[in-house]
Amino acid sequence: MAVYIVLLGPPGAGKGTQAEKISEVYHLTHVSTGDLFRENIRENTELGKKAREYTDNGLLVPDEVTIAMVEDRLKKEDCKNGALLDGFPRTIKQAEALDEMLEKSFGAKVTIVPCIDVDQDALVARISGRRMCKNGHVFHVVTKQPKVEGVCDVCGEPLYQRADDNEETVKTRLNAYNETTSKLVDYYSPKGVLKTVDGNMSITDVTKAIFAAIDEAI
Ligand code: AP5
Ligand code: MG
Repeated sequence: MAVYIVLLGPPGAGKGTQAEKISEVYHLTHVSTGDLFRENIRENTELGKKAREYTDNGLLVPDEVTIAMVEDRLKKEDCKNGALLDGFPRTIKQAEALDEMLEKSFGAKVTIVPCIDVDQDALVARISGRRMCKNGHVFHVVTKQPKVEGVCDVCGEPLYQRADDNEETVKTRLNAYNETTSKLVDYYSPKGVLKTVDGNMSITDVTKAIFAAIDEAI
């Protein structure tokens, strides 16, 4: 039975960081909508042109665009055993669309939704020190330094600071989470798949808590 994990949590909570570990251990393809948008923006595709005005300003990309992109991605061969969704869904409409596409295309359901809960002040410190590579591997100037400064440990690509990791845009992203995405807690909770995890702990301890939740669900 295919496994579909939805990682929920505010900007900077550690979704990308934890996704690297989960995908490795559970052999699930990491599907990050943020990474997919950034890749399309870098390659200047039509999708990238549409997404950029939203991502640069910390606003949610319209549902139609986002849902179509995820539907295409989940149909690829590397998702045939399921997927680890990071940053999708972010609206009730996206959550309903995901349920529908899993049911229709794969006869499956969302398996578990770990929600990484982190204090708002810590989020800003995490985001402002983040560095990442174009393949989505995540580092931090204090808490997760690469072996060689400015270079990704995993793929050797240069590390950069994201265009939306500035104070003004972070405020808008946090607002979008608090006003819209946090409502997904009430969407998934009655389905019995939501598992809130304390994300204020060390990266390793958060990983342990998420693994325990996944092991209980699968
Ligand atoms: P996206 O790229 O998903 O950004 P986000 O949701 O704002 O989340 P982040 O990637 O900033 O944080 P994260 O939780 O992955 O944290 P990370 O692991 O990097 O989306 C970008 C934009 O795309 C959106 O604003 C929107 O415009 C658009 N978009 C994407 N999906 C969409 C959708 N579904 N619908 C509409 N629009 C969409 O960690 C952060 C830092 O903290 C790192 O430096 C890390 O090393 C450090 N860290 C992690 N865990 C810990 C820990 N436990 N202790 C100490 N440090 C830690
Ligand atoms: Mg991320």
